[in-house]
Parts: sequence; structure tokens; C-alpha cells
Amino acid sequence: MEVKADARKFAEIDCDALVVGVYEGEKPDGGALAEIDERSGGVITSLIETGELTGKSGESSYVHNPGDIKARRLLLLGAGKLDEFNLDVVRKMAGTAARMLRGKKARSFAFLRRSQLPLGESAQAATEGALLALFDPDKYHTNDKTEGHLETMILATTEGDKNELDRGVERGRIVAEAANFAREVINEPSNLMTPTELARRAEEVAREFGLEIDVLDEARMKEMNMGALLGVAQGSAEPAKMIVLRYRPQAESDETIAIVGKGITFDTGGISIKPADGMEKMKYDMAGGATTIAALRAIAQLKPSVNVIGIVPATENMPGGRAQRPGDVVRAMTGKTIEVINTDAEGRLVLADAVAYARYLGATKIVDLATLTGAVSIALGDIYVAVLGTDQELIDRIIAAGRNAGEKIWQLPLDKEYREQIKSEIADIKNIGGRKAGTITGAYFIREFVEETPWAHLDIAGTAWNETLKPYLAVGPTGVGVRTLVNLVCGN
Ligand code: BES
Ligand code: MN
Ligand code: ZN
Repeated sequence: MEVKADARKFAEIDCDALVVGVYEGEKPDGGALAEIDERSGGVITSLIETGELTGKSGESSYVHNPGDIKARRLLLLGAGKLDEFNLDVVRKMAGTAARMLRGKKARSFAFLRRSQLPLGESAQAATEGALLALFDPDKYHTNDKTEGHLETMILATTEGDKNELDRGVERGRIVAEAANFAREVINEPSNLMTPTELARRAEEVAREFGLEIDVLDEARMKEMNMGALLGVAQGSAEPAKMIVLRYRPQAESDETIAIVGKGITFDTGGISIKPADGMEKMKYDMAGGATTIAALRAIAQLKPSVNVIGIVPATENMPGGRAQRPGDVVRAMTGKTIEVINTDAEGRLVLADAVAYARYLGATKIVDLATLTGAVSIALGDIYVAVLGTDQELIDRIIAAGRNAGEKIWQLPLDKEYREQIKSEIADIKNIGGRKAGTITGAYFIREFVEETPWAHLDIAGTAWNETLKPYLAVGPTGVGVRTLVNLVCGN
């Protein structure tokens, strides 16, 4: 779908539908709303009088032949309370409009700007919202594919700096396309999205957007003494890959941010095997890895002035005949020994070597993201991503970046006392910490391998998959994290 701006008055814009937000309790007694009411012979007044239109968020009214405007239909969307209106409302309204109107076979729509939010950011949010909403994971349906095809979204705004507007649209497109790339990769079934295939996708991204890439095979991992990662990989017939993407800015910078994403292309649990019920969803256990590749994809286009490394330790977690056993002791790249109590706590094992490798490559800051624990859904549900780490400034920046991107992030503590839970009798550390504070002990394990480098960890297990259809979002992978990481690296 193309997104463009049109500075003509809304009534003059020729398109299939005009989309207008209505605030809670708003009356058509001035501005655009009054004008639409007048041109439509009182449609808005009538909708308000019958109680169909109150402006509550989630509400919609759809009218054909709305009178003296060029658009053939009018879509009124509840915009919620005026004092709660923000960029995320814009994002969701644009998304709702796009999905709804596509369902009604519209080919074009105009989205009327009514707020005073910054123009560029508004345009970015609207572009993101619409492009993210139009993603559907229906690739393997052979006939009943999503019907309808939206060709154009027009941002209708008569004032403002055209450059700012265009830049907002451009950034919105880059970020949304990156997130949709992640969603597509995450959605692929594990028989197709193997570690080798994930590496191939990363190579494609590197080629198309001009990133450096290096993919370590198992022989090179062995040379680097990545015993924790190799221990997980040994139960699988699919060879593991460590994918390393690099972005270098034009002018040299002494800051290097490493983004490290868990890339378990399927998590059976290994010998500590998971129950059958719902196991099919474990194809999304590489969401952190896909998000990492996607973030680098966007970063390559937005060209910030810092070095960025993306690292994805990719492997299956399978219970094959050579699989590691509960009780095994492995030695990680840093030299630390790990007692593997539960082979299903494999994410932290592969990340242990990946964050160590990030330090080896010169990272000055590390952000890892992973579908690490079921416990995070118990703590925060599917609303908030959990962040934990050793560098409060970095954590604060991540939370702020998320807020601006419309991704909610909540910090959990990581006090030294939690270390007790992952003490091992026979090794330096064990890979599970009991029933209590599962998300925290999981993060603490990773902390042991980042050592002194400023680090933050995002647990996206609760938020990377959308289970219920929303007006602005399909069921399936959400691409959570891409927008936050892009803001973190490129500025809000
Ligand atoms: N990939 C899972 C975590 C997960 C669970 C992601 C549900 C998405 C939805 C992870 O590898 C895992 O199995 N974690 C265990 C850890 C436990 C064995 C300490 C868990 O959360 O149960
Ligand atoms: Mn697991
Ligand atoms: Zn896992």
C-alpha cells in the first residue's frame, strides 16, 4: 500500500472512504466535524442523537454516499477522550480503518488529521498503524486468502511542513516493513524456518540493505568454546548457526550496541520435553532472533551514527539421541560451567554464548531479547514486555523508546539475592532457579555471562504472539520489539 499526503481540503479528496476520528462526547459544533455534518445533511448529528456515535474508542460508524464530499463513504471512528489522545491512538485508528476498509473492498482512503500532535510523528504513527494492520499470516491458505486490496492511504492535512510529513511517512514505512518482515519469518513453520533458513533470510537482508554478515557454523562455535549453545544444538539433526549482522555508520563511533535475539527455531523442551498441548506454538521461539534481524534491516535504512551488531544464536531444541541430558555439565564460551538441570531452559544457554560473543566483538552495550519464560505471562500478561538489566540508564532509555513506539515495557528487579536460586552443587551455575520469580532467575542467568558490559534483557514470551484478533492486528506474531529497538538506536 502506498501512503501519501494530500494538502487539499478533505471534501476535495477523491477516494473510496474518508476516515474521521470523533472524540468522546464531541458535538459537531465547529471545525471539520461541523462541516462534514453540514455537507452530509446532518449524518453526524443523527448518529449522535441515536446513541450510535459517542466517540468511545473502539466504536465505528460507516456511511455510504455521505453527501457533498468527494469520498464515496465516510468512516467515523471513536477516538476516545480528547485528553488521552496520543500517537498510539493514531496508530490504532489508522490500523482499524485499514483493516475494516480492506474488508469492505475499498482501494483507497483518506485519513483526516484532526489533532495537534507533532506532524511528522503523527504521520509516522498512522503509516505504521495501517501497514502493521494489513499484515495477515495467511500465506499457506491455498484459496480463502484475505480478500480486498488497499492501494492507497492518503494523509489529509492542510497545514504543516511537507518535508516533516514525508519524513514521518518514510520512517513509518521502514519501521512497519521491518516489523512485518519479522512477523513473516516468525510465522513460518519450523520445518521450513530452520536455523539454516533463518541465516539465509539474514543474508538476503544484508545484501539488500548493505549490512555486513558472518554466519558461524558449528565448527567455528567449537573453536570459540561455545559449549552452552552447542549443548542445546546437539539434540537436533539441523545444524546450528550463529548469525552476526553488522551496521557501521559513515563517521566512526566508539559506541557499539549489540542486539542479541534468541533464535530457537523450535522448542520441544529437549529431554525435559514439553506437553503436546500447544507445543506447535513453539515455532515462535525464534521471535527475538527475527526481531533482531528486522531491527538491523530498519537501522540499515535509517543510518544512525552508532555501530550496531545483531547476533542470533539459532538452533532447534530437540530430544534426539545425542541430546544433552538433565544433569549434564557444559562449559560456556566465558569458561563458566553450567549444570543443565532442565533442558527446556535452553534460551538462556544459547544466549550465554551469544552475549559473550557480543562482548568478544566489542559491544559497549548489550540488549538481548528473547521468548525466555512462560513466567513473564503470569507476571505481566500479554500487555507488557519485561525489561531487566544491570544498567539503569539503558533500561530507562529502552522504556522511553518503547513508550514512544507504542510498546509497553515494565521493569522487574534483578537484585543480587536472586543469585542464590541458580547456585549449583557441582558447577558454577545451574540453568533453572525453581518456581519463584522465573523471569528474574532466567535473566540473572544471562547476567552471569555479560559480566561488566552495560546490559538489558527483554522477555517477550508474553507479547510476541497475539492470540485474539484485534481491529488493528491479526492473530499471530506481533513483531514486538522492532519499533522499540529502532527508537533506541536511531532516537525517538
Ligand atoms: N521458549 C520457552 C518459554 C516460552 C513459554 C515462550 C511459553 C513462549 C511461551 C522457554 O525455552 C522455556 O521453555 N522456558 C521454561 C523455563 C523453565 C524450564 C525454567 C518455562 O518458562 O517454562
Ligand atoms: Mn524451552
Ligand atoms: Zn525456548
